[in-house]
Amino acid sequence: MASPRQIKLGMFLRPAGHHIAAWRHPESQADAGWNFSRYMELAQTAERGLFDMLFLADTSGVPTDDMENARHLAYVAWIEPFTTMAALATATKRIGLVCTSSTSFETPFGIARKFASLDLVSRGRAGWNLITSANPLEWRNFGAEPQGAPAKRYARAREFAGVVEGLWDSWDDDAFLVDRKSGVFFDPEKLHALDHKGEHFQVRGPLNVSRSPQGRPVLVQAGASDEGRSLAAETADVIFAAAPTLEVGREFYADVKARVARCGRNPDHVLIMPGFQVMLGSSEQEARDRFEFLQNLIPDALGVRHLSTYIGVELSGYPVDGPLPDLPLTNLNVSRTEMLFKLARRENLTIRQLYQRIAGGRGHFQTFGTAKQVADMMEEWTMAGAADGFNYMAPLFPGQLEEFIAGVIPELQRRGLYRTRYEADTLRGNLGLPRPASRHTHSPVAATA
Ligand SMILES: Cc1cc2nc3c(=O)[nH]c(=O)nc-3n(C[C@H](O)[C@H](O)[C@H](O)COP(=O)(O)O)c2cc1C
Repeated sequence: MASPRQIKLGMFLRPAGHHIAAWRHPESQADAGWNFSRYMELAQTAERGLFDMLFLADTSGVPTDDMENARHLAYVAWIEPFTTMAALATATKRIGLVCTSSTSFETPFGIARKFASLDLVSRGRAGWNLITSANPLEWRNFGAEPQGAPAKRYARAREFAGVVEGLWDSWDDDAFLVDRKSGVFFDPEKLHALDHKGEHFQVRGPLNVSRSPQGRPVLVQAGASDEGRSLAAETADVIFAAAPTLEVGREFYADVKARVARCGRNPDHVLIMPGFQVMLGSSEQEARDRFEFLQNLIPDALGVRHLSTYIGVELSGYPVDGPLPDLPLTNLNVSRTEMLFKLARRENLTIRQLYQRIAGGRGHFQTFGTAKQVADMMEEWTMAGAADGFNYMAPLFPGQLEEFIAGVIPELQRRGLYRTRYEADTLRGNLGLPRPASRHTHSPVAATA
């Protein structure tokens, strides 16, 4: 019998932890938003746990204007992710470094240049989480009207991604001759200008960064709308999902893998990794009690603010222990909001109960239990066709990550579901993804180191 495919793991970094009140916990690293050494320690710990990659999310601005209620929120100021990843590249050796940049605010040339450079600095460990942005709180920092509807956002993102990939192929792998004797540094035949003229961008190229170790940095996406899923299927190497249940996870997995196949791509070369928020304890009860402790640290005002910001509708005028009112869908977090509305209706949740549901995992799957129970859950999701791996989310750093590495990782290894050492030097290599050939060369796809 073929051995089951090994589980891939991302480590979703968020300063004090993913729970909204994590910073109030006596064991949290509340200063992580501005103390880089915290990120460094977490990255090194994750590398000890043989995680495939670190992941940093981002938004281009403070996520609320309601400072009175937001004063309880820790996730308002943090070190810019790209800068963080460049620094972490020198503090780690094997773990992948994936961070977020928005196609709504950046330029394709700038993104292509930065991520190719991160790939060189990290020797083949860079990844870009491609997002579109609909939030007016971010758009106003760029002097423009929000581009809300998914069709518009993703049309720009599709062209953006195409330009970036084209620029990454500017130089053939063997373009640099560095021939001291003849004085020829590079072969102009192996340099390709892009000459892109599209609806949103005009980019001549070529890129002034050589082809990077992975050929192209790993492309990650998390679009969940129809347009988002399509772009991910066409271009992404890794797709993050937010699935609150195994059933939703399987639906997403089947739908996206089918879309990948319809694009003529190999579904095994596109990895689907749902968010997985894990609270560990020596017993399930202890894990639940630990989570409850965090839940009780959420001030009401913050919980309501968090939910309101999340769904783009102000809820502060409604009773917190009353039902979620019937609300319109905005252009914000469309698919995730829809999912939350359904959840609230299905389970008859009050506003408080709903904010508590997203306080830890923001709609991602949440699990509580012993290392064995969590490993069972991960095995179940991968065997059931809902995941190729997970984007691990600790409610509380650093303790939960350390317990995960001490307990869950060895349990998965015992079952043959997780690596016992890094297989490769590059992120693509560890993810089992081929190194893409340049569009300008006809050589066979080179193996990753
Ligand atoms: C794991 C994960 C990470 C994400 N990271 C970010 C992020 O850093 N910044 C952001 O604005 N959106 C982020 N998103 C949101 C997605 O990019 C996407 O907009 C969302 O899933 C809704 O899909 P849609 O844009 O197709 O409606 C993330 C989503 C997931 C599941």
